[in-house]
Amino acid sequence: MKQIIDVSVKSRKIDFSACKTDMLVLGQFSDAKGRDEVIDALDKKLGGAIARLKKLGDFKGKPKTHALLYGEGKIAARRVMLVGLGERKKATLDTIRRAAATAANKAVGMKLKQLSLALHRACAGDLDDASAGRAMAEGAYFGAYRYDEFVTEKNNGRLGALAVELVDSQQSRLKSLNQGLSQGAAVGQAQSYARTLANRPANVINPATLAQAARDLARSCKTLSCTVYDKKQLKAHKMGGILAVGAGSHNEPRFIMLKHTPTKKPAKRLPTVALVGKAITFDSGGISIKPSQDMDQMKFDKSGGIAVLATMKAVAELGLPLTVWGLVPSAENLPSGTSYRPGDIITTFSGKTVEVLNTDAEGRLILCDALAYAAKQKADVIVDVATLTGACMVALGHHKAGLMSNDDDLVGQLERAAEESGEKVWHLPSGDEYADEMKSKVADLKNIGSRWGGACTAAAFLRQFIGETTWAHLDIAGMDLFQQSNEYAAAGSTGFGVRLLTTYLMNLIGKK
Ligand code: BES
Ligand code: MN
Ligand code: ZN
Repeated sequence: MKQIIDVSVKSRKIDFSACKTDMLVLGQFSDAKGRDEVIDALDKKLGGAIARLKKLGDFKGKPKTHALLYGEGKIAARRVMLVGLGERKKATLDTIRRAAATAANKAVGMKLKQLSLALHRACAGDLDDASAGRAMAEGAYFGAYRYDEFVTEKNNGRLGALAVELVDSQQSRLKSLNQGLSQGAAVGQAQSYARTLANRPANVINPATLAQAARDLARSCKTLSCTVYDKKQLKAHKMGGILAVGAGSHNEPRFIMLKHTPTKKPAKRLPTVALVGKAITFDSGGISIKPSQDMDQMKFDKSGGIAVLATMKAVAELGLPLTVWGLVPSAENLPSGTSYRPGDIITTFSGKTVEVLNTDAEGRLILCDALAYAAKQKADVIVDVATLTGACMVALGHHKAGLMSNDDDLVGQLERAAEESGEKVWHLPSGDEYADEMKSKVADLKNIGSRWGGACTAAAFLRQFIGETTWAHLDIAGMDLFQQSNEYAAAGSTGFGVRLLTTYLMNLIGKK
């Protein structure tokens, strides 16, 4: 898929004052002690401009702030951007990632062609250069991302490409940066792929066109294969959940299955991981229709499924030596004369019956078929990702995704991946007391619980379809989009989950 802004990331050995570039970017902690030799040397050449700026109090290195200086022929760089990194003790990889994203976002806004990042410099000693290189590459893709493929009046003159480079004057440090760069570029590209697919509206992306995107992806990656069930095959395989949710739309449902088979045999026995993602291409609520306010945002209800597709792309491009499945049930939830209704009792792929009490609790109905399928195919670990409940958004806001699981080791692994990737999670319960609320008098389960704890009852519903398999569920409602642009990103899809899942998988194989 051609991205709207073609970002490339390379590395280059430079001499800081002789670095010819549109913008050279350095980080600054708010409590930096001692002198920063690179900044000092640049300041000297700039005649004390940086010192004056700091003395005036215009830039203190606080988070979400930056300062811009002009080279004016005194140094080779046309501009120098200092990005605030906040307190040193609070710095994580995500501090670097966001700083890189901030710089890339501004660079695109300023229509620059070239961006030179040296944010790892400020963190020497705390963060290793390889990880910093990966974070800078990921951040550059993230911040430079734009979505305007349907804007025909392109009068803003935005450039179609941004050349990013990670720069240092020391060869040894460049070598480390390079190790992370290729990984970060693969993950960054995968995340941009996810954001563009997710940003596309429901009249463009429906279950069939999403399936076609998955097939195209598989064709472009050697290790990926793709199988798609259409309505007829869904019927043959008795996937009653996916069929019920998709019944109201002319755009028929699909079950998309991607498989990554590694070319390299892993050294140690690694689990087969099934990633399962909810892809409701539009969620109107169905017969239990949603209010019209903000209903347009329900085009993002496919974000979990797309995060899975994009993670499969990253896994394939990184050539990870483990077997990964990407299972994406997809349907459009619309009201019509053929829709499923409140009161219907459906038989799911697992054989369990579900009383539908609200057609807007549709995500769990498509996921339960995919989860039962993954368990039946004997995945060792299942991780599902879904914009599942408004309740999760009420609980955690827009800062963290809900994490529910039946396995504490898996919780720990995902928490670690969240820390490293900056895609944060918070562990929530999903045990028997929540499952009890999902019992029905007329079927095995019902699809809604009481008014309270909706994220937990939804997870408890899913939990009943994975048997004994090690499982985790990520409720990413609230994390799938930025309602407004911010200092490091454009509004719209965030591609949440791509970095988190890829990092989790990379950590499994012990490759940093
Ligand atoms: N896709 C929604 C959840 C959602 C809401 C995601 C807002 C992002 C933003 C989901 O299908 C849904 O409608 N859930 C219902 C469940 C309820 C009927 C039990 C909800 O959260 O209200
Ligand atoms: Mn819904
Ligand atoms: Zn939904």
